Amino acid sequence: MCGIIGYVGTSPAKPIILEGLKRMEYRGYDSAGIAVFENGKISSEKKAGKLQVLTDEVSEDHWSGTAGIGHIRWATHGIPNDVNAHPHTDCTGKIYLIHNGIIENFHELRERLTAEGHEFTTQTDTEVLTHLIESHLPGNSLSEAVKASLKEVIGTYGLAVVSEMDPDTIVAARLGSPLILGIIGDGEYMIASDATAILPHTREVIYLDEGEVVTVNRKGFTITTVDNTTVEKNSSKIEWDIQQAEKQGYDHFMLKEIMEIPRVIEDGLRGRLIIEDGIAHFGGFLEYEDKWRSIERIVIVACGGAAIASRVGEYMLEEYASIPVKVEIGSEFRYRKPVLDEHTAVVIVSQSGETADTIASLREAKRQGVFTFGIVNVVGSTIAREVDAGMYIHAGPEVAVASTKVMSGMVAMFSLLTLAIGRQRGMSLVTGKRIAKELQNVSLLAEKMLKKNTETIKSLAKKYATYDNAFFLGRKYNMPSAFEGALKFKEIAYVHAEGYPSGELKHGPLALLDDRFFVCAITPKDSVYEKNLSNIQEVRARKGVVLALATEGDTGIEQYVDDVIYMPKTLEMLTPILSMIVVQLLAYYTAVERKCDIDQPRNLAKSVTVE
Ligand code: G6P
Repeated sequence: MCGIIGYVGTSPAKPIILEGLKRMEYRGYDSAGIAVFENGKISSEKKAGKLQVLTDEVSEDHWSGTAGIGHIRWATHGIPNDVNAHPHTDCTGKIYLIHNGIIENFHELRERLTAEGHEFTTQTDTEVLTHLIESHLPGNSLSEAVKASLKEVIGTYGLAVVSEMDPDTIVAARLGSPLILGIIGDGEYMIASDATAILPHTREVIYLDEGEVVTVNRKGFTITTVDNTTVEKNSSKIEWDIQQAEKQGYDHFMLKEIMEIPRVIEDGLRGRLIIEDGIAHFGGFLEYEDKWRSIERIVIVACGGAAIASRVGEYMLEEYASIPVKVEIGSEFRYRKPVLDEHTAVVIVSQSGETADTIASLREAKRQGVFTFGIVNVVGSTIAREVDAGMYIHAGPEVAVASTKVMSGMVAMFSLLTLAIGRQRGMSLVTGKRIAKELQNVSLLAEKMLKKNTETIKSLAKKYATYDNAFFLGRKYNMPSAFEGALKFKEIAYVHAEGYPSGELKHGPLALLDDRFFVCAITPKDSVYEKNLSNIQEVRARKGVVLALATEGDTGIEQYVDDVIYMPKTLEMLTPILSMIVVQLLAYYTAVERKCDIDQPRNLAKSVTVE
């Protein structure tokens, strides 16, 4: 949420900053702003609306400065307008600051600073930081003033500050919001919330840790803690390719990312399956085999799509590894009083590795001293670095706000974990081999399904896009796919949709059914097929319109429903990989029909780094 970027070097800063903001636009798109040094003075512009509004506004500004900062906003405090857009400045107009996070004690600080004579012009929490820094600046360098200010602040931040007192210098800090330093070459550096903004310029990065402050200019950089202790850090290499973060001819990132699912599953499984032995092997398991053996209960914590994918993991692990599993939502887990013990493993699942509530849950688990395991996509992210062990999803960058390919990757990771733990706990070789074999094959099935069915889904979306409401139903392994269908219809197609376990509809929601609803019934030929058919009948008996997702060859289902989308046959526990793709694609084409802003749905942002 919110993207921050800074550049210092020898090239004009404006285009580099605007391009970086474009790459991070999924982090927020309420407003955008930029501040660039021009011969020791700072020029700044900020505009409400999408980044393009700012880009158009500054297109005529012939700024040639080679150091500056930029921001895209997802509003928390203060409506998205020009005034509340970042950068914010102080009373002197010489300090400019951008911020991702929330300053929780802004109210007290604002009252105090106002009493001291500072004049506030915005409704944001962030503005207090500029005045605080201003108050600490006399007699101090910018870096010292920033550190002194941060000691007074309660809350979270990824921030960057520039001041005319320290020309061409950027001071950036993090606590609770991600921040990366990119090393382009001697005298050329970037800072950003996200690696995708840095990637076109360099792969060499340093991940800042909590409470660290970097001061960077053409002479180099220093990293210290807020208490001014110098920190030595090693750089890392980003493994992603720049093309992976581009649309490559697709109309939307979401479509491109759905089409990448077969490749994501394949990459996620690569080198981690031994089919003839029916086992999964990966570092996060092998190095902790004894630990896993001592585990008696798993608590999975995640938010959004990651929590939905985790529900599939819950069912897999209980069925095949015979271990009790519970899925918890991060924003709940962190505040209730979860009972954990030394035999509990807390599995933290996150695409970004930066979701605030998920991170807080991880820290609560660590505070209680339990074993933590991460299933994470972004390499080097906060969660990836703080868990005891884990596995990377290896899906590459996911740009669309609505997660698709990474959710499939998460389900694939849970399949591996199930196989690994299951085999440790008495799963037979035959079962292990069967799962491993089907898992290996599922990317091919997904690819075939996409080739065969995309046009059908597209044309069905034309029909179903006319409905204002939808129920998505699924049972057992496909209950999460029902949740996923409803979530995607809401978030990208702005259709009121409800996801329910198939058997639950008659306990209330069925009362809503009328001719403005359609029902998407996920009905593969699995162990609960007949039960689901009965639920379809219940809907049909009330004149409900039904679109079924069924297994290839099940032509018999056609007599009970209005339309069918077929999926290839696979092992029951892997069917959600296929059904999730179908509901995602259906939501995508429905959103196209409804002319929605698919990659940047209203009011949302991808990386939810605030509570
Ligand atoms: C946001 C995104 C979702 C994502 C969720 C959790 O809501 O829009 O697509 O599933 O955050 O994010 P995480 O990065 O922790 O998986």
